[in-house]
Amino acid sequence: MQEEWAEYYAHTRSTMFSWNNGSAPGHLRDAVGRLLLGGIRADVLASAYGTPLVVMDIAMIQRAIDMFQSSCDPLGLRISYAAKAFLCAEFARLLSGSGLAMDVCSLGELRVAESGGFRPERLTLHGAGKTDGELEAAVAGRAGRIVLDGLSDLRRLAELAKGGRAVSIILRLNTGVSIDTHSHVRTVGGDAKFGLVPGEEPDAIAAIQNEPALKFAGLHAHAGSQIFDCASLAANVAQLRAAADRFAAHGLICRTLIAGGGFGVQSDPRRPQDALDIGAAIAACTDNAVGSESAPALPIIEFEPGRAIVAHAGTTLYEILAVKWRPSRNVVIVDGGMADNPRPAMYGAYHHVVPAVETSEALRATRVFGRACEQDFIADSMLPRNLERGDLLAVCTTGAYTHSMSSRYNRFPSPTVVAVHEGTHAMWIPASD
Ligand SMILES: Cc1ncc(COP(=O)(O)O)c(C=O)c1O
Repeated sequence: MQEEWAEYYAHTRSTMFSWNNGSAPGHLRDAVGRLLLGGIRADVLASAYGTPLVVMDIAMIQRAIDMFQSSCDPLGLRISYAAKAFLCAEFARLLSGSGLAMDVCSLGELRVAESGGFRPERLTLHGAGKTDGELEAAVAGRAGRIVLDGLSDLRRLAELAKGGRAVSIILRLNTGVSIDTHSHVRTVGGDAKFGLVPGEEPDAIAAIQNEPALKFAGLHAHAGSQIFDCASLAANVAQLRAAADRFAAHGLICRTLIAGGGFGVQSDPRRPQDALDIGAAIAACTDNAVGSESAPALPIIEFEPGRAIVAHAGTTLYEILAVKWRPSRNVVIVDGGMADNPRPAMYGAYHHVVPAVETSEALRATRVFGRACEQDFIADSMLPRNLERGDLLAVCTTGAYTHSMSSRYNRFPSPTVVAVHEGTHAMWIPASD
C-alpha cells in the first residue's frame, strides 16, 4: 500500500482537479484495474460499509482548501465554507482546524457546526426565509453575523434585538447580473426569490438607521452555483461595490462584501471548458481592490465556496441490482438513485459513471438508473458489456449537494458516508434505517 500511496499523492499533486483520460480527480486504479479511493480499494470499502456508500477523500478536500487559501490568504480575503454542500460533525471538526469560517442556513447546520468546534465569530447565519428560532439564535450571539434576506427579516430582527446587545448584520442583495447556469441554481435576476432589489434599499437603510442594536457590517450577493466564467462572478462583485457606495452615501459603511460561492466544478471529462481556474476567478473578482483586517479602507471581500471544496472529494459506490439487455443499450439499475442524489433528476446534473473494476471487456452503451419508483436516470455511459448483478459502479463528483440533499423517498435508507485518508477509513455518517 505504501508505494501506491506515493503514487497517489504524486497524482493528486500533479493533476489537481483535472480529469485524466476519463478518470476523476483523485481516482487511481491498481495494476488489475481496481478503483482506489484514498488508497483503498472501492470493493473493500463497499464490503465493509455496504452500498450505496458515499466515499469522501480527505486529501481532495485538503487540496481544495489549499487552493482557495493560496489565492485568498495573500490578499487578506476571507473564506467561509457553505455548509449546505455537505456537512457532518467530523467534517466540521476537520474544517474548523483548517482556519476556514462557515456559513450555515438553519439551526440544524448551526448545531452541527457548533458540535464540530466552530465558535460564533467564525459563523454566519443565512437563510432565504428565517424562522423565529434562527433570528433568536443571532440575537443570542450563536453566529457572529446574520445575513438578512429582505425587509421582512430586517424588521423582525430589529424588533427582537431592540434594547439588547448589537447584532452584526449583512444585507443580501439581488445584484441582477446575468448568470449562465441552470435556473434552479441561479439566485440573482428577475425570477430570483433572494435578497433586496435596489428599489428596497432606501427602506432597508432607514430601518438600520432607526435601530441601534443592528450593526451594519456589509453586503452579500451569491449569484448562483456552477458558474464557469470569471466575468460573471466579477460582474456580481462590481455590483456589490456599487451598492456599497450607495449605502456609504447614507453613512452605512461596508466592512465586508460577501461575494457568495458558485465556483463551477467540472463533472464531465468531455467538457474541459468547465475546468474553472479558481485563482483566476478570485483575481477577476478582486482586481487587487480589497481591504484587509489591518487596513480596512476598502471592504474585505469574502467568498463562500461549497461545491468547489467538496464535490471532487466524493464518489458514490452502488451495487448493480439488475441488468437488462436492450437492442440499443444495456439498462442497469443500481441500489440507490434519486433519494441519495437528486441532482440529475432536479436539474439534469451530469455524474460520470465508471466500473469499480476496469477490465479489457468490450464496452457497450449503458443507461444507468436508480431504483426509485420513477425514471430516476443517473447517466448514460460506456460500461463493460458483461456487467452483472452484484458488480459495483462508482458515480463520480458526488461530494456536494448529494448527501445533504438526500431524502427518504421510497423509505430507502440514506447512505453511509465514509472518509478515506492515507489508506485509512472512518465512518462519518452512518446509514439511516
Ligand atoms: C448563500 C450561498 N452561499 C454560498 C453557496 C455555495 O455555492 P456553491 O456550492 O456553488 O459554491 C450557496 C449555495 O447555494 C448559497 O446559497
